[in-house]
Amino acid sequence: MKNMDLNNLLSQMTIDEKIGQLVQFVRAFYSDDKNGEITGPLNELNITEDVIWNSGSVLGSDNAEDMIEIQKRYLEKNRLKIPLLFMADVIHGFRTVFPIPLAIGCTWDMELAKKSAEIAAKEAALSGTNVTFSPMVDLVRDPRWGRVIETTGEDPYLNGLFATAFVQGYQGNMTDEYNIAACVKHFAGYGASEAGREYNTVDMSERNLRENYLPSYKAAVDAGVELVMTSFNTVNGIPSTGNSYLMRDILRKEWGFKGIVISDWAAVQELIPHGVAKDGKEAAKKAIEAGVDIEMMTSNYVNNLRELIEKEKIKMELLDEAALRILELKNKLGLFENPYRTANAQKAEEAYLCKEHREIAREVAYKSFVLLKNNNILPFSKEKNVAIIGPFAKNNRILGPWSVQGKEEEAVNFLEGIQNKIGREKVVTVEGGGINCEDKSNFAEAIEAAQKADVVILALGEDQDMSGEAGSRAYITLPGVQEELAKEIFKIGKPTAVVLFNGRPLEMTSWYKEAPAILEAWFPGSETGNALADVLFGDVNPSGRLTMSIPYTVGQIPVYYNCYNTGRPKNEGTEGNRFLSQYIDIPNEPLYHFGYGLSYTEYSYGDIDLNKTVMKYNEKITAKIKVKNIGKMAGIETVQLYIRDITASTVRPIKELKGFKKIYLEPNEEKQVTFEIGEDMLKFYNSECNYLSEKGKFEIMIGHDCKNVKGAEFELI
Ligand code: NOJ
Repeated sequence: MKNMDLNNLLSQMTIDEKIGQLVQFVRAFYSDDKNGEITGPLNELNITEDVIWNSGSVLGSDNAEDMIEIQKRYLEKNRLKIPLLFMADVIHGFRTVFPIPLAIGCTWDMELAKKSAEIAAKEAALSGTNVTFSPMVDLVRDPRWGRVIETTGEDPYLNGLFATAFVQGYQGNMTDEYNIAACVKHFAGYGASEAGREYNTVDMSERNLRENYLPSYKAAVDAGVELVMTSFNTVNGIPSTGNSYLMRDILRKEWGFKGIVISDWAAVQELIPHGVAKDGKEAAKKAIEAGVDIEMMTSNYVNNLRELIEKEKIKMELLDEAALRILELKNKLGLFENPYRTANAQKAEEAYLCKEHREIAREVAYKSFVLLKNNNILPFSKEKNVAIIGPFAKNNRILGPWSVQGKEEEAVNFLEGIQNKIGREKVVTVEGGGINCEDKSNFAEAIEAAQKADVVILALGEDQDMSGEAGSRAYITLPGVQEELAKEIFKIGKPTAVVLFNGRPLEMTSWYKEAPAILEAWFPGSETGNALADVLFGDVNPSGRLTMSIPYTVGQIPVYYNCYNTGRPKNEGTEGNRFLSQYIDIPNEPLYHFGYGLSYTEYSYGDIDLNKTVMKYNEKITAKIKVKNIGKMAGIETVQLYIRDITASTVRPIKELKGFKKIYLEPNEEKQVTFEIGEDMLKFYNSECNYLSEKGKFEIMIGHDCKNVKGAEFELI
């Protein structure tokens, strides 16, 4: 903790200076170009320039020189010389761009996730950023929602582990010079936006909220996250940004969160169109009373808090508490001693995309790829002539929609990566129409290239702007004429691997059967081409596993693995019965399920060996299982443990991930994997929303993914 006497400082501040701490605008407002950029927004927000020189934080500056200049100008004008906090969206890397978070999820590797956040924090800190608006830990079940790219998937347990890893990576213990503060978002339940439509309503039971959606935010809070961002949606009829049950009762009282709550962009103002505030004054009142400390990008606090305090009995303590929290973070970051902190343009340049950062970006990328299908054609031999066909053959829009600071020209594209691996002369590319257009004019050229090549790679996908914020889609198939292109190429009969670039699970029902191999690459970031070449040519054995189900078709959504059984489940042996919970035209199952992912080897599982089949409340039992690599290549297997509570006082999911171990196995090597199961892992929210476990039978499932498992039973007494 740094040495500033904050209470003393607070006591010297005027009410307007305190309110100023609660205000955040984008960097353009601090520019020295007073015309153009800045005048318009100031007028629109009905604020004067004084507000800018009292504001507490700024959004979106992303280079050291800019930060230093803004801070300097600000400090000259700010009466008490209280430095600005610099916040930015550093979502999956800064200039070294890692794969999108949904892809990082597929690594099931917390150490690597943490490392990626550490690198992002270092590059960001050197560029003058103090706070990142990450991690986004919203649980997701609807791939129509474009923001699924920003999260780690559909499982509460895994999301919680990743939340912890990211927070630890960014923040460390908040004492290292390259630590930056993290902001977990979007609190709460944003991932459940109805129909996958961005900014839409969320309505769910308290039990569902607590059991599935809240654990990842809670994990971030337990890991010491410094900030929480509210979400745009409603929860139980009340927008999150005015929801005191969420922010005061759950976040602060139940969880003991002591940091800053920031609204999402304009979310205080949006209390008006939501229909819970008649004007800006009421919006400001609701937000501050509910617990929002910083209002992002609108001016309701600045224009109304003074009057609310002076005339309408809003307590001064609310303002003091909020302002103090912001000062505390500035103090913790050492900004009072050195307002520029580690901002250093030269050192930043040295860190950006340095060898070490690129190596980690490459490792995260190749560990995030999920091999969905392989009819024995992959890996390709490095001797073969290759045709890369499709709009991603040499496309540099591969960083993902939320890479704000990354530069496309600094990414290694697919073609470059393959050329690096097998040499220039063995590779040709044909882009074969665009991503989202009807142009088939170079289909003939693509077909000819495929005919001449030994092996073909189809590089297909969505443009990165088709996912991310405001990137909801109702049809989640490959856009444009890409499916037609793929079918033309499949007909030729060459060994063909489809490599998919996308920010969400795509529907591939109309073509997956004809594809000899499918590799899900997501948006892999700075090292895209090199990482793909590592996997496609066998230097790396793919090990990524899905953390979000890939639906059979959009009509199944939401489809997720930890669902309820229903009273009329469709099981083996129920064929022919119409009156079941099922579709009459498609399977219930997704096309590719949670935990799924192939490799170039195979693993065999022994039976589960339980040390006891009866467990007392204060005891643990152990489950052991032998796993053997029965193929020809060394690989990393992710051994997954699922549990089902067979009967309970409320309905329980058909399986829930409770643990996993990643093991490295040489060909023919066998390892024993042990899981300890304690009563804590059996807890759930009962009908009164108490978190507890209940006596009775439980099923344990251990295996390769959520479907391919070995089973055993035990009883809690
Ligand atoms: C809106 C987005 O919802 C949020 O995730 C982001 O951090 C803010 N804008 C700031 O850019």
